[in-house]
Amino acid sequence: MTDYPVNMNVRPEVEPFFDPATNTISYVVKDPNSTSCAIVDSVMDIDYAAGRISYDNADAIIAFVKDKGLTVDWLIETHVHADHLSAAPYIQEKLGGKIGIGENIVTVQNVFGKVFNEGTEFQRDGSQFDALFQDGDTYEIGGMRAFAIYTPGHTPACMTHVMGDAAFVGDTLFMPDGGSARCDFPGGSAETLYESIHKVLALPDNTRLFMCHDYGPNGRDIKWETTVAEEKEFNIHVGGGKSKEDFVKFRTERDAQLDMPRLIIPSLQVNMRAGEVPTDKDGNPMLKVPINAL
Ligand SMILES: [Fe+2]
Repeated sequence: MTDYPVNMNVRPEVEPFFDPATNTISYVVKDPNSTSCAIVDSVMDIDYAAGRISYDNADAIIAFVKDKGLTVDWLIETHVHADHLSAAPYIQEKLGGKIGIGENIVTVQNVFGKVFNEGTEFQRDGSQFDALFQDGDTYEIGGMRAFAIYTPGHTPACMTHVMGDAAFVGDTLFMPDGGSARCDFPGGSAETLYESIHKVLALPDNTRLFMCHDYGPNGRDIKWETTVAEEKEFNIHVGGGKSKEDFVKFRTERDAQLDMPRLIIPSLQVNMRAGEVPTDKDGNPMLKVPINAL
């Protein structure tokens, strides 16, 4: 296993932004010793029925960053989301920063480039992003060192990003009473997710974990923050030392019952382009709906 440069002495300030339309939590993560920050998993609003996009969520993040006088060093995507659209390019245009994702974005681009019958102008080399991370890669947010842990299973490009004592797990884990994310998208694997989850649980017990999603199971209020120790003990899918066999059986049976996410079709087309809306041959923003392809 890679030796990750964990530094629990650095405690970034983490500001959450919850999007009730998609149950996504975006984060502004500030280096405690400078005005630099990273933005993790931003959301672009879409009224899919009307084919209309807007930026209320992103504008709230932009207003926060400006109000606090922060500099955006990074716009991090934990993975190619299938349930919401990224606002990274919109925020980048207004605030700067580099857009980064896991290097296996190329796998996702190859699979869904076919599904959406994209032409040769759609590059499948990750070049829409400013940085492609490998397991253990480090990067700086002001004076704070961050690093990426390769955590596939939900999708092939999933990474957990660790900034000081805070880890942004994407869909690798949900809150302890939410369990884990589905593994039935192309390139997903329950076995692999189990191993990835245990990479996250190998971080120090008091690591703060920040979720990308929460659905408030059993009617509880929405929450997004927990710790490695809590997940290890209480996570309903992997906690208390649950075996890989049990996890894989449960996860596979559960996934077979799940409907496709409501926004998967627009999300994939936009997110595999780093958040840019595709255009038709005349340059107009346009999305496709492949029939019986997903
Ligand atoms: Fe996801």
